[in-house]
Amino acid sequence: MLLERAYAKINLTLDVIGKRTDGYHEVDMVMQSIDLSDQIWLEELSNQRIELESNVAYIPQDARNLAVAAALAFQRYSGIRKGLKIWIDKQIPVAAGLAGGSTNAAAVLRGLNRLWRTNYSVGQLAEIGAQIGSDVPFCVYGGCAVARGRGEIIETVRHSFRPWVILVKPSIFVSTADIYRALKSENYSLHRNSTQMIECLQAEDFIGLRESISNTLKTVTYHLYPEVELLAHRVSQVIHAPVHMSGSGPTLFALVPNQTIGQRVYNALRGFTKEVYLCRFVV
Ligand code: C5P
Repeated sequence: MLLERAYAKINLTLDVIGKRTDGYHEVDMVMQSIDLSDQIWLEELSNQRIELESNVAYIPQDARNLAVAAALAFQRYSGIRKGLKIWIDKQIPVAAGLAGGSTNAAAVLRGLNRLWRTNYSVGQLAEIGAQIGSDVPFCVYGGCAVARGRGEIIETVRHSFRPWVILVKPSIFVSTADIYRALKSENYSLHRNSTQMIECLQAEDFIGLRESISNTLKTVTYHLYPEVELLAHRVSQVIHAPVHMSGSGPTLFALVPNQTIGQRVYNALRGFTKEVYLCRFVV
C-alpha cells in the first residue's frame, strides 16, 4: 500500500489568448498548489481490475473518474496490466475550479511510477497526464508553474513565498467546458499577466501579488451564475480585501498575509457561508 498526497491548485493568473484549431483555448496561466489536499492510497491487486473506493459517494468509480482514467492511461503507456485498488480520501471540493479530479489523476500517475518501479521522469508522467485533462500536467509537477498551450506546457516557477489563502466555495457546480463555450473572443486577454505575477512571487511582494491576480473566465462565470458574483462582493466587504475566482470557478479566493488574519477572516465568513477553507501555498 502506497500513499500520495494530491494538492489542490488555484490560478493566480488565467489569460485566454485565443481559440485553437483543436477546439481548446490557448492559455497562459500561473498555477499554484495549496495545502488543501486529498489522500490517494494505491494497492496492487492480484486480478487485472482497476477498482476505486472513496470516503464520499458522489464521485464516479469508473473511468469517468480521472483517477481511474489515469491508471488506464498509465497501463497503456507502460504495457503493465496489473490490477489496482485506488482509495481516495476526498477533502477537495469537486467541480470547483480547484483541479480536484486532475490532482487525483496526477497522484495516481506519480504513485504508479513508484508502485510499478517504472522510473519515468516528471515530464513523461505529465505527457501521460495531458491525455487525461489539461490541468493534469501541472498537478504532476505541483508547486508553482506557468502553464501554456492548452495547459500542458509547463514551466516551473521557483519561489519560496507562502501567503495564506481563504477559499469560499459557492454551493453550485460549474462545468469548465460550459464556461469555455460561453467565452466570447472580445473577452480574450490582450496581454499575458504571468510575467508580472512571477516577479511579485519571487520578490515576495504581497501587495503586488494581490493586485496582479487576474482571470479571463471570471466575467463568463459571473455572467452565467450571478450568485457567484454576489457572493464575491459580500466576501470582499467582510474581509476588506479583493476577491478572485480560481479556474472556471465557482470557488472564490482571497490572499491573506498571515495565519492570524486568516483565522479571523475564516471565522467571519463561517458566519454566513458553509464551505470555507483556510490554507497556504505549497512550494
Ligand atoms: O482538458 P479538460 O478535459 O480538463 O477540459 C475540459 C473542457 O474545457 C474541454 O473539453 C474544453 O471544452 C475546455 N477547455 C478549453 N481550453 C483549455 C482547457 C479546457 O477550451 N485550454
